Order: sequence, then C-alpha cells, then structure tokens
Amino acid sequence: MAIQKVGVVGCGLMGHGIAQVAAQGGFDVLVVETEQGFLDKGLARIDKSLAKLAEKAVEKGKPAEQAKAESAAVRARIRGSLERKALADRDLVVEAIVEDLGEKRALFADLGRICKPSAILASNTSSFPIAEMGKASGRPAQTVGLHFFNPVQLMRLVEVVKAPATSDDTFAAARAFGEACGKTPVACKDTPGFVVNRLLVPYMVQSLLMLERGDATAADIDAAMQLGCGHPMGPIELTDYVGIDTTLSILEGWVKAYPSESAFAIPAILEKKKAEGKLGRKSGEGFYKWQGDKRL
Ligand code: CAA
Ligand code: NAD
Repeated sequence: MAIQKVGVVGCGLMGHGIAQVAAQGGFDVLVVETEQGFLDKGLARIDKSLAKLAEKAVEKGKPAEQAKAESAAVRARIRGSLERKALADRDLVVEAIVEDLGEKRALFADLGRICKPSAILASNTSSFPIAEMGKASGRPAQTVGLHFFNPVQLMRLVEVVKAPATSDDTFAAARAFGEACGKTPVACKDTPGFVVNRLLVPYMVQSLLMLERGDATAADIDAAMQLGCGHPMGPIELTDYVGIDTTLSILEGWVKAYPSESAFAIPAILEKKKAEGKLGRKSGEGFYKWQGDKRL
C-alpha cells in the first residue's frame, strides 16, 4: 500500500520531529495532541526548526526566497488536531506519546477501532514490546516499530522493529517510509531496547551509578566520554537530553519485566530528580540547567 497520509500521535520532543521529517519526505501529516497548549508548543518547535533548516540552506548557497518557500511548503503539509478520530483517513499512524505501556495499549486499542482497515500502526517506543501494541490494536500483522532518535531532525537512524506477528508487507512499508523521511533504517527484532537502547541505556545507568558513588562529577564523566571516546555528548547530559521521566519509565518497565537482568537497574538519583520535577532539558533542569536546547 502506498503511504500518503500520515498521523503522528504526540507532539513532544519526538513527535514534533517525526511530524517534520515526514512532511519533509512529502507526506501529508496530521499531528494529534491532548491539549491545545501542548499542540501549540510542538508546532512552534517545528516552526523554529524549519527556520533553522532554511538558514542552513542559505549558508550553503540556496537563494533565501527559495529556502523560505521550501520550508513554508513543508510546514503547509502539517496540521494539528485534538481529535483522535481525525486519524480515520491516515495510511500510517506513528505513536509518540509518553513511555507508559498502559497509555500506549489504550491508544492502540482506539487506533484499531478508528483507523481504516488498511492502515499501518507504528510505535516509537524506546523500550516496550511492539507485540503488546499489536495485540491491543487487534491488528498485530499491521503493527510495527518505527524508532526514531532524538533530535529526530538531525539523527540519521530509524530502527524498524518486526514483532513476530508483523507482516512482511507492513515491515517493508514502514522501512520505505523511514527512508522517505531521510533516515537509514536498520531491521530489529522485538527485543528490549532493540539495538541502540539495549546498549545505550545500561551505559547511561552505569554513569549515574558512578555519579551516585561519587567517583567523578557529572561534568567530568561527560567530558571523559566526549574527549576520550569521541561521543558528541556525555551520558549524563544525554540523560537530561532524552528526559529523566522517559529514562526512568524505560528502566522501570525493564526491571519489572526482566528482574534477573543485571544491566537493568534504577539509580536512586534518577528517581530523586523525577520526584523533584527536574526532568532534564524539557523542564529547564535535570542533572544540568538548560536554556532551550543549550546546556548552561
Ligand atoms: N535543521 C537543520 N539543521 C539543523 C537544525 C535543524 N532543525 N538544528 C541544528 N542544525 C544544524 C546546525 O546548524 C549544525 O550544523 P553545522 O554542523 O553545519 O554547523 C548541526 O545541525 C548541529 O547543530 P548544533 O550545533 O545546534 O548542535 P551540536 O553540534 O551541539 O549537536 C546534537 C547537537 C546533534 C544533539 C549532538 O550533541 C548529538 O549528537 N548528541 C547525541 C544525541 C544522541 O545520542 N541521541 C540519541 C538519544 S537516545 C534516543 O534517541 C533513543 C531513545 O529511545 C531514548
Ligand atoms: P514527551 O514527554 O516530550 O512528549 C510526549 C507527548 O505526548 C506530550 O506532548 C504529551 O502531551 C503527548 N501525549 C501523551 N499522551 C497522549 C495521548 N494519549 N494522545 C496524544 N498525545 C499524548 O516524550 P518524548 O520524549 O517525545 O517521547 C515520546 C515517545 O518516544 C516515548 O515512547 C519515548 O520513549 C520515545 N522516544 C523518546 C526519545 C527521547 O530521547 N526522548 C527517543 C526515542 C524514542
């Protein structure tokens, strides 16, 4: 099935980026949020990012008018709504709501009722089994994982996750969609964390345990991994960047589902930050203070 109309549910850190790259890929995009304020915030982020995209194009020699017109054409392909029912005509719906399995199951059950019979349902989950979403939707063969990376506009990877029941056609269509969004797809089985997070999140955990033990400061741990290993960002800054709430949700789910896996642990310092409402970049403070996208 040719995908033309795309729905994105959730317009937060990930959803706004997925909506933008889908529109850049030429798709007609409808983004659904729960509240007008969240929708406005997400759409404003897209506006800011498209302005940056135009600015970059001009730096590379594109005439300013043309760069502006191209960004405006991308933006014109994105609409927002607070009505889940508006997703009924979408060929593909990508879910990017909070990392909460209960919320995701409820959403997929609804999508199974609302979306047209041929629609493909995809989840951007960081850690939950795609099979769970497939089961909830009542259409497991048409459910697939499309795991984008943060910041979506700049990260070149998308993991395409095939659950046992995902059909070959669904997988192929999702992979082609990822490519059309400008990403390089890698195929993954439906395992905890797929490829990247299975390696990355335990590494972030170790850095937080190191901080808890007082082995080094956050700034030194981050500088060590940036300068010693060439990472663009150290693990503690990355935890702020991903979101303390999202990182904690990933770990809580894994610790519960895989209690004997020693790589999955919850550093007390992470729970403390969440309890204090310090969620990282998105709330202006986590392990560091933030002003927008910049670490202070
Ligand atoms: N559109 C187009 N170009 C843009 C842009 C936009 N919206 N925003 C920025 N750019 C350009 C900038 O102009 C800059 O271009 P030049 O290199 O030509 O100057 C380039 O993109 C980089 O931008 P910045 O200078 O603002 O940013 P930076 O160099 O400080 O890098 C970063 C920022 C890309 C976030 C980098 O620090 C990085 O790669 N960090 C690691 C991110 C990472 O690991 N993400 C994965 C998280 S885990 C995950 O996502 C999975 C999960 O499930 C939790
Ligand atoms: P976020 O908190 O920034 O955004 C979530 C958005 O979803 C919020 O704007 C919220 O209002 C909205 N939302 C919640 N329930 C909703 C519903 N029922 N219907 C519509 N909108 C709803 O979170 P995020 O960081 O964008 O994460 C979204 C998903 O992407 C999670 O599954 C997360 O694990 C995954 N993910 C996150 C990252 C990351 O680095 N943050 C990277 C890859 C994948």
